Amino acid sequence: MRHIKLLAIVIQCVIVPSVFADSDRFPAVTDDVTRKECGACHMTFQPQLLPARSWAAIMGNLNNHFGEDAGLDQETTDYIEEYLVKNAADTRRNGFRDYGVLQGIKNSQTPIRITDLPYWIHEHTGELSPTVWKRTDIGTKANCLACHSDADRGYYEDD
Ligand code: HEC
Ligand code: HEC
Repeated sequence: MRHIKLLAIVIQCVIVPSVFADSDRFPAVTDDVTRKECGACHMTFQPQLLPARSWAAIMGNLNNHFGEDAGLDQETTDYIEEYLVKNAADTRRNGFRDYGVLQGIKNSQTPIRITDLPYWIHEHTGELSPTVWKRTDIGTKANCLACHSDADRGYYEDD
């Protein structure tokens, strides 16, 4: 009996979104320019998902952006870079929170994919069957919205 109850609790923890869901929330991107230019081809990724140096690297190479030309004029590029850097995972600021996304990343490393972070890989291992990435309705790992319907608002925990 005791075992059954315990099991029920364990199952509940897996299915029911945690009570702390809100504390896991990444702030939604509110900057209009960033939303328009960086949300044209994919979701506007939250700046808290990469360190400042990664955003600088991405913004410094927009003409050659994962096989696409995402180039913008210099003024817009500078503006968006400033916004992303100011809100990056490792930039201390008002309301700064360490989400732990940079665990396992050395200062000498500059990942340009969120999906390459050991944190991201850890969160997506085990629960997901490897064949999930072959599903054509998902397409790629970067398609956060395929599985996290509220990702654009910064919610990732309860889908
Ligand atoms: C012209 C289309 C286009 C625009 C505009 C665009 N991107 Fe991308 N982006 C892509 C493609 C294609 C990928 C690769 C997606 C994949 O692997 O499935 C990508 C991937 C990314 C990734 C890595 C996702 C991962 O795998 O973790 C980041 C970060 C990113 N883009 C940031 C930006 C930022 C910041 C902007 C705005 C300055 C932007 N993108 C604008 C097409 C675009
Ligand atoms: C194929 C489905 C799928 C895709 C695509 C996907 N995820 Fe996930 N993600 C999951 C599952 C399943 C979990 C683990 C269960 C949970 O916590 O919801 C998870 C967990 C997470 C977590 C941890 C949430 C927590 O518990 O605090 C984060 C953060 C996250 N994903 C971010 C992303 C981001 C960012 C992207 C896109 C770059 C992405 N995911 C793409 C399925 C996916």
